[in-house]
Amino acid sequence: MVKMLKGRDFISLADYTPEEFKLILETTKELKLRYYSGERIIPVLQGRVLAMIFEKPSTRTRVSFEVAMEQLGGHAMYLGWRELQLGRGETIADTARVLSRYVDGIMARVYEHNKLVELAKYSDKPVINGLSDLLHPCQAVADIYTIMEKKGEPSKLKIVFVGDGHDNVLHSLMIGIALVGGKIVISSPKGYDPDPIVMKWFNEISSKTGAEVDIERDPREAVKGADVVYTDVWVSMGQEKERERRIRELKPYQVNKELMNLAKPDAIFMHCLPAHRGEEVTDDVIDGKWSVVWDQAENRLHTQKAILALLIP
Ligand code: CP
Ligand code: NVA
Repeated sequence: MVKMLKGRDFISLADYTPEEFKLILETTKELKLRYYSGERIIPVLQGRVLAMIFEKPSTRTRVSFEVAMEQLGGHAMYLGWRELQLGRGETIADTARVLSRYVDGIMARVYEHNKLVELAKYSDKPVINGLSDLLHPCQAVADIYTIMEKKGEPSKLKIVFVGDGHDNVLHSLMIGIALVGGKIVISSPKGYDPDPIVMKWFNEISSKTGAEVDIERDPREAVKGADVVYTDVWVSMGQEKERERRIRELKPYQVNKELMNLAKPDAIFMHCLPAHRGEEVTDDVIDGKWSVVWDQAENRLHTQKAILALLIP
């Protein structure tokens, strides 16, 4: 059953049912279609304000949320963590209590995932996860939407993630795939497996949807017959101190032309961006015939609008 989504937090896709996720994807489709039919402004959030707290840098998330609010008739406000009193030690709880008296929703990008949980606990208005060390659910909505747009029914596809198997973007992609009953193969070295909590969520959801997850250490074996090959950076924001070790251990997992040639001839290449060209992906792949990364990035705008239109009261 699709429950009313107004007022709900968007911290993890695991908090959403397959039907609710489907509603977000269908709303995206409608909003994108209307945008391309010339309806630039659909003022369902007129007079509403979104606060956007960033503890880490962002290009896509920041800009797509801000433009999304404009196109829905509302307004978005960028708040750097260090410019807020948060940076001087005001608690997350107090910040949430105050902000939610002013604004209609809070989007936040943080280091520790628990900061979002804390924000949501004390905010009277919806809190949207704009990326944490554990999850990136807004990215996953755009990813699943893009896969459906390019390849159709996701449950019929072989989707392969190559690289850091403990990555926040992968974690949310896994939950998205679980919700649509798809199959994902993760190719990463030992010590880079998905977080146990994400595996637990995946298994709970897949018991209802029939989704499957496999780990294949050999990237060449993993991408054989793939419809979708996905990767993300080897050094995520906050992991800079581990850079040398991570690059060394993940090197065999680079997505290059030789690897892509083992996938299906019409396979697509996806990346949430920003990319570290020459590390996890080579120029000939990200700029090559397989790449859908710019459409994928554009879809962040349309999916963000759907999330905001459905959640913000
Ligand atoms: N994919 C993504 O979230 O990009 P930004 O870090 O630029 O927001
Ligand atoms: N895994 C990356 C994603 C950036 C959008 C990071 O957390 O830095």
